[in-house]
Amino acid sequence: MRVIDNQRYTELLARESEHWGNVQPDAGNPQIWHDVRLFEIFFSARYRHFVQRIVSCGPSVLELGCGEGNLALELAQRNLRVAAVDLSPDRIERARRKARELPLDHPPRFDVGDLNSLTLPSGEFDCIIAHDVLHHILKIDRLCEEVKRSLKNGGTFLVMDYVGMGFIRKLLAALLFAVLPTHQTYRDKWKLRHRLPAFIATERRKREALANGLQKALHHESPFEEISQSSIVREISKRFSIVECATYSPFFFYLAPKVRLPESVRYSAARLFFILDEMLLRLRLSKGAYVFIEARKPDVESDPGISN
Ligand SMILES: C[S@@+](CC[C@H](N)C(=O)[O-])C[C@H]1O[C@@H](n2cnc3c(N)ncnc32)[C@H](O)[C@@H]1O
Repeated sequence: MRVIDNQRYTELLARESEHWGNVQPDAGNPQIWHDVRLFEIFFSARYRHFVQRIVSCGPSVLELGCGEGNLALELAQRNLRVAAVDLSPDRIERARRKARELPLDHPPRFDVGDLNSLTLPSGEFDCIIAHDVLHHILKIDRLCEEVKRSLKNGGTFLVMDYVGMGFIRKLLAALLFAVLPTHQTYRDKWKLRHRLPAFIATERRKREALANGLQKALHHESPFEEISQSSIVREISKRFSIVECATYSPFFFYLAPKVRLPESVRYSAARLFFILDEMLLRLRLSKGAYVFIEARKPDVESDPGISN
């Protein structure tokens, strides 16, 4: 497969950074992470498990793709020494501002950086975490190598991320979005039809589109959206011992914030959607669209030159 050239990469990355700097809750197109109650229903149990695993790993933590710093700040409030990095200077600035408003003994260190090219310090962290970011990273293999080098021996890589819905699930989601009453009018939804190829594209298709300069399979404002959806688990498994790997939220999480329902039944309906998602998982009718991974760097690297 052709490799994306530097100039094009720089242009696309600037677009990606601008996108993340400008993301705001959109009443016409609500997302689950902008609605605290919906997030609570679908993700909070797993999120609490994630935070609890981070806290048990040791004092020094690096967060990859920290956004506006909410998780990094929560960890600093629990007395962890946190470093955090994100692509978007605007988001990092907002995170620093929030940190200044909190009475923290050890405020997190927030830096701007591109996870595709960043070099991390060696053997530095007890734990490296990534929440909802790895699926945006083009060079996920390189980043996993950096993470491994930067963890102390026995250190932990903790990940919660989107690993994608298969083609059929995406088509069904698009169809249900098109026909059900949502916050967007039918006329506005019809205008979104040119986004369908990007929505249903596989990781392979997206990578080809990037390398060949084709725009159709890419999200316009966020060209690296879902660029590593299917390789996250594979790339981590190649380099680390897997302690836990579990997928969740296969399908209905996607529709829950979008379907227009009276306020009085909105959250009961969301709970029903959540139960349906859990049933799909338990009956093994579908794999989760999100994954939780706890991965460990071996205590001592085995020397490939020595054999019995
Ligand atoms: C879905 S948001 C998640 C933010 C945060 N982790 C959270 O859970 O709220 C994805 C984040 O990844 C960051 N990001 C995307 N590409 C990146 C890159 N190449 N290097 C560093 N950060 C990146 C974005 O700026 C954005 O803040």
